[in-house]
Amino acid sequence: MSGFSLLPRHSAFGLDIGQETIKFAFVRKGAGDVATLEAYGKAALPAESIQHGAISNSNAVAEAIRSLYHSHGLHAGAPPFAVCSLPERESFVRIIQMPLMPEAQIGDALQWEIEGHIPVSKDEVYYDWSLVDTVYADETKITGDTGTDHLDILVAATLRTIADSYAEAVRQAGIMPVAFEIESQAVVRAVVREKTKDGAVLILDLGGTKTTFIIYAAGALRFTTIIPVPNEFIVKAITGKVHVTPDEAYKLIQEVGLDPKQLEGKILDAAMPILSDMLEQIRKYMDYYETNVMPHVAAGKKIDKIYLTGGGANLKGLPTYLSANLHIPVEVVNPWANIGTGSGAGKKKSPKPALRFKDALGYTTAFGLAIRGAQQSWT
Ligand SMILES: Nc1ncnc2c1ncn2[C@@H]1O[C@H](COP(=O)(O)OP(=O)(O)OP(=O)(O)O)[C@@H](O)[C@H]1O
Ligand SMILES: [Mg+2]
Repeated sequence: MSGFSLLPRHSAFGLDIGQETIKFAFVRKGAGDVATLEAYGKAALPAESIQHGAISNSNAVAEAIRSLYHSHGLHAGAPPFAVCSLPERESFVRIIQMPLMPEAQIGDALQWEIEGHIPVSKDEVYYDWSLVDTVYADETKITGDTGTDHLDILVAATLRTIADSYAEAVRQAGIMPVAFEIESQAVVRAVVREKTKDGAVLILDLGGTKTTFIIYAAGALRFTTIIPVPNEFIVKAITGKVHVTPDEAYKLIQEVGLDPKQLEGKILDAAMPILSDMLEQIRKYMDYYETNVMPHVAAGKKIDKIYLTGGGANLKGLPTYLSANLHIPVEVVNPWANIGTGSGAGKKKSPKPALRFKDALGYTTAFGLAIRGAQQSWT
């Protein structure tokens, strides 16, 4: 029987479980493509709730999820179903090339192929795949060694021990985890707009505990990695240099930023060693992409734009600094590019006036998860 179920069908909310903070967003799908942001919120996790990527204090994380669910009116609007994030650090996102074959055979064939592409045994991961491209060599401009007919398959894998610990904490909170997604997959869904699908963009998610390097090119996620330079390093350097509280530091980050003429350039001086390190790593991975990944992409292009997201994108002057050093346009993304009313979508106008743009940047992952939660019906 198709298209009919006796079980109720529900939308799900998005739940971004980070190293130190959990965030949720609930998006409701309206007529056509219009989606509205119904609720959002965040809570800090007790220290060391997550260790080596796995949730080690399941009680604390479950309690934080439960209280978020009950304290933001979410329980009144959203069923206890969630699309949950999985940590990028313990995951692998790769494009794998396979010979042409019917789509129904890909799953089986991939079982034998996947181990050559991830640094652990296939039994240690859960993985998911999608067919990105069917590439016919004579119709494309592939310059690399994959100039034969082939399939490009996007594989996303996460260590089982890590994913199991996430699922357990969510269930313990009384929430049904209906789907899991690696952080970068959610970020892409939140910020990539239909019209930008042809180019090659680098998205940098500047989170509190790490910077995630994400390449989206020719209509698909192509490569992700972690740059171990978190925004907290910059905040700490600033509070150390100008002796202010973290809240005052946020203000300085947003209002003074990297301007050498303000505060005797102290913010710039404090941030510079960390930014130089970050820049060096961005260059390294851009080179890696252009040398090792791009040549295999049909109509592969060099990265032509950088998008910044995450709370760290609030640093004033950062787009100019990166753009001057990398010679590529850099802009702060619109975190609700794919949420909002017809007039709001794509513009930097909040779908919820209480949620300011600068605060919304940290919700990008939660928004991407919530959009998926609204797009499908879950039972
Ligand atoms: N209003 C603000 N202005 C400036 N910086 C801010 C602001 N709010 C948060 N931050 C900084 O942004 C960072 C948090 O960003 P974000 O919310 O994207 O991280 P996270 O998703 O919790 O962490 P991760 O992705 O590493 O797990 C912190 O370093 C915090 O100090
Ligand atoms: Mg994050």
